[in-house]
Amino acid sequence: MIKQHPFQYEEWPDDSALSESDRSLLQEARQVTELAYAPYSNFWVGAAARLISGAVVTGSNQENASYPVGTCAERVLLGHAALRYPGDAIETLAISYHPKDKSSYVPLYPCGMCRQALLEYELRFQRPIRLILSGMEGAVHCIESANSLLPFAFTGQGLRS
Ligand code: THU
Repeated sequence: MIKQHPFQYEEWPDDSALSESDRSLLQEARQVTELAYAPYSNFWVGAAARLISGAVVTGSNQENASYPVGTCAERVLLGHAALRYPGDAIETLAISYHPKDKSSYVPLYPCGMCRQALLEYELRFQRPIRLILSGMEGAVHCIESANSLLPFAFTGQGLRS
């Protein structure tokens, strides 16, 4: 039997379709690309999350001469949120990026490791994380839950079964 697993997302031509607060969160993610430390890839990523309390936390990628030691913007943000605002779940997370000295027009989807980390954060707080993905300009994708980016994921439940 063939089964299908649907993936739903919103696509907008630019950020003008977003609410004021989503647009400002995406703006923040675009701004913090400037705080990336990415001398090896020259690929600058920024993330900004609005928490339930309304607080905003950010992250940017932090690379290392020993390449695998580097950390993506999303996981830098999650560590920042967990430490600075314990118990305060993430409501919406915006991600943007640009290659050094260039703009970007296509939404960036989180890497596999970050999808796993985002899923864990959703399960930990029992709350979906809404994602807003966009380059420095152009198309915006919105996804209702990070969970939908990792179908059939491995979770703590798998460890117990
Ligand atoms: N990167 C992120 O920060 N987030 C992603 O979701 C994809 C990749 C970073 C890691 C590395 O510093 C650079 O982008 C190139 O892979």
